[in-house]
Amino acid sequence: MKIRTAVTAAAALIWCGALVQIAASQESFPDEPGRDAMMLACTQCHSPGKMILADLTKEDWEFVVYDMIGRGAPVHEEDLADLVKYLQDNFATDK
Ligand code: HEC
Repeated sequence: MKIRTAVTAAAALIWCGALVQIAASQESFPDEPGRDAMMLACTQCHSPGKMILADLTKEDWEFVVYDMIGRGAPVHEEDLADLVKYLQDNFATDK
């Protein structure tokens, strides 16, 4: 019984790892303006998978970017518009 539990736990771990890999794959993050800024500024405290899991409207995304800048995300001013648009285009629930 104990061994079986351990095997199940190990399988679950591997499965989670695979999911993270898929979430972080190229396809989820198309190479458009704003992508590099996101990968640079938004993956320092949490993984880019956060963008995929987030359940946010366009308006929420704009707010989140300013919120994250307030927390210390290093977004250059000239990248700001592209970054917000990138997040809205790819991850907004009302896109
Ligand atoms: C200085 C650290 C830091 C940086 C840099 C950062 N974040 Fe966050 N982020 C956090 C923390 C802390 C939370 C709240 C705790 C959590 O959900 O993990 C959070 C939560 C989030 C959430 C979930 C919010 C929700 O309401 O569902 C999203 C989406 C997000 N961040 C996106 C971004 C984006 C986009 C950037 C780049 C502009 C970014 N983060 C950069 C620290 C950071």
